[in-house]
Amino acid sequence: MALVNTKKMFEMAYKNGYAVGAFNVNNMEITQGIIDAVAEEKAPLILQVSRGGRKYASLSYLRAIIDVVVEENPDIPVAINLDHGDNFETCKQFVDAGFTSVMIDASKQPFEENIKVTKQVVEYAHPRDVVVEAELGQLGGIEEDVVGVEDVSKHVADPNQVVEFVEKSGCDSLAVACGTSHGAYKFKSEPKLAFDVIQEIGDRLPGFPLVMHGSSSVLREFVDLINKYGGDMPNAMGVPEESVSKAAKLGICKVNIDTDLRLALTAKIRQVFAEIPGEFDPRKYLGPGREAIREMVRHKLHVVGCAGKAAECM
Ligand code: G3H
Ligand code: 13P
Ligand code: ZN
Repeated sequence: MALVNTKKMFEMAYKNGYAVGAFNVNNMEITQGIIDAVAEEKAPLILQVSRGGRKYASLSYLRAIIDVVVEENPDIPVAINLDHGDNFETCKQFVDAGFTSVMIDASKQPFEENIKVTKQVVEYAHPRDVVVEAELGQLGGIEEDVVGVEDVSKHVADPNQVVEFVEKSGCDSLAVACGTSHGAYKFKSEPKLAFDVIQEIGDRLPGFPLVMHGSSSVLREFVDLINKYGGDMPNAMGVPEESVSKAAKLGICKVNIDTDLRLALTAKIRQVFAEIPGEFDPRKYLGPGREAIREMVRHKLHVVGCAGKAAECM
C-alpha cells in the first residue's frame, strides 16, 4: 500500500532541492495519464481534488479511481490532497474520505481568522495522520484580475507573518503567494515571480515545506495548437519553466499544476476533431488526450525535479 501523506516526500524534497508535482484530477483519463507518467519516471505523486472536481465527478468516483492508482502502483508513494478547501467542514469531509492531506485556504480571511480555522483543521487532521496545507497572501486569478508584475507586491505573502502563522496554526506546509495565479492568463506583460519573497520566507522557516500554486507554464506550443484547431486563447501566458525549477530549489516542495494538463488534453482533442471530423467514438479522442497528459506530466516531473525520486520518498 503506497498511500502516504506528504511528510516524507517534503522532507526529501527539501533536503535534495526538488519539488513534488501535485496534479489535479477530475476524471479517469486525466488520472491515468498522470499515473502512467509517474510510474514511467518513478516519481512520488500528489493527486489533488478541488471542490470543482468533486462537484463534477463526485468524491466517491474520484476516490475509487485513486484507489486503483494506489493498488496498481505499490512502488509509487501517492498522497491525495484536497485542493483549496474553503472551510472546516469541507476539510473534515475529505479527511473522513481517506485523503492524506487537506489544504485549508482561508487566505482571503483576516490573518487571525486564517490562523483560527487552519488550527481547527489541524486539530482534526493530525490525530488521523493527515497533513494540512495552509495559505498566506492572495493568489491572483482571472476573477480577481490580479495579474501582471505591477500587482505582485500587493498580493504576495508577507514574510513578517509566516513564523507566527506556522507556530500558531500548526500547519504542515504553507502555500505562499508569490506572483502566480491560477489559469492560463497569469501575466499581462513579462512574467515575474517574487523570488525575494520566497527566499525571505524560506530563510525564516528553515526546513519548512513551501507550496507554489498557479505553477503552470502555459506552453506556447499547446496554446498555438488550440488556436490552430479552432480555439481562441489570445494572450495566454504562464510561469516560465525555469522559474518553476528555480523555486523548487528555494524550499518550494510542492508545485501545483492543473492548467498545463488541461491545455494538453484540449489541444489533442481539438486536433483529433479537426483532422477526423467524422470521429464520434470517445475512446478515439480521449485516448490520445490521455496520452498527451502522460507526455506533459513526464515533462513536468523533470521541470520540478522529482523524476526518479519515488523510492527515497517511500
Ligand atoms: O485551484 C485551481 C485548480 O486548477 C482547480 O480548478 O476549481 O476549476 O477544479 P477547479
Ligand atoms: P495552474 O492553474 O497554474 O495549473 O495552478 C493549479 C493550482 O494551483 C491548483 O491548486
Ligand atoms: Zn491552487
